[in-house]
Amino acid sequence: MILTNASVASIQTKMAAYPSKKSAILPAITIAYRQVGYLSEDIYVEISGIIDVPAVEIAEAASFYTMFPKKPVGKYLIQVCHNISCALLGADSLIEYLEKKLDIKKGETTRDNLFTLISVECLGACATAPMVQINHDYYESLTPVRVDEIIAELRSQA
Ligand code: FES
Repeated sequence: MILTNASVASIQTKMAAYPSKKSAILPAITIAYRQVGYLSEDIYVEISGIIDVPAVEIAEAASFYTMFPKKPVGKYLIQVCHNISCALLGADSLIEYLEKKLDIKKGETTRDNLFTLISVECLGACATAPMVQINHDYYESLTPVRVDEIIAELRSQA
């Protein structure tokens, strides 16, 4: 078993709030992601056993959401929005800056396993572009100076 008793209990509590089992898929994968840090086939099978929905349907739902990594990632998952508002205000430059700063390419994890860098679709903070989501937090109106501060802050907390 990958999921803890606490995660299973949380999923069961969420299930009770919905009239349909399938409605519990998204809350269940969110709970699993928060515990494990990524999703996998084994996790889909475990969730399937809890909510009684075929694992393939859980995998299909999870595949829509880039915010749920499908393989292990670093302690900090940096998701750079590359959609139109962010693109117009420098998302590509921001990605290049992070690649150089972290010495990795998009899709990779730093050797110390601290940072994984990916780019994602709109995160709904278009008015404060360019922006990134790092784990559960948004960082908006980014500049290289602000990026340096954020990375330094995260490194100091590691
Ligand atoms: S386009 Fe980047 S948050 Fe919407």
